[in-house]
Amino acid sequence: MAKKNEISRRQFLNYTLMGTGGFMAAGMLMPMVRFAIDPILKTEAASDMVDIDMKVDDITTEPQMKKFKVHQVDGWYESDVEQAAFVFKNDKGDIVALSPVCKHLGCTVDWGTNPAYPDEFFCPCHAGRYYKDGVNVEGTPPLAPLDVYEMDIKDGKVFLGKPMPHPKA
Ligand code: FES
Repeated sequence: MAKKNEISRRQFLNYTLMGTGGFMAAGMLMPMVRFAIDPILKTEAASDMVDIDMKVDDITTEPQMKKFKVHQVDGWYESDVEQAAFVFKNDKGDIVALSPVCKHLGCTVDWGTNPAYPDEFFCPCHAGRYYKDGVNVEGTPPLAPLDVYEMDIKDGKVFLGKPMPHPKA
């Protein structure tokens, strides 16, 4: 007969197996938890504003397409994504940077390529049109104005942030 404080062979096996199982489960779970919360713990090192390599002095009243790269962190995936903006001075002399992404179905608009409307942005996909200030022409497929980039001017150079909804949207 076993004494009161002794553990049986069955109990010993149970404890050993539970201990080993728990240790293995923790070993598997820790990397998963770390993987899941890693982006939350990461601090954003870079500023949101990107130097698009364009001097203020080079900006004219004619919209110029400027391509630039934005470093994106999407969860655990980091990449450099190419973006573009139409940069120009408006009638008041203010610098404007419009997104070329059409608000209809996302094609890329161009400036002045429709001979019938040389002073407008034109989307070749479904003949969408926008005035120079980015506002969509009524009666054409787009139902909203082009997005406007957040902008900073530092040391005579243009820095762009995220495309935001147009103030007239
Ligand atoms: S995607 Fe531009 S008009 Fe349709």
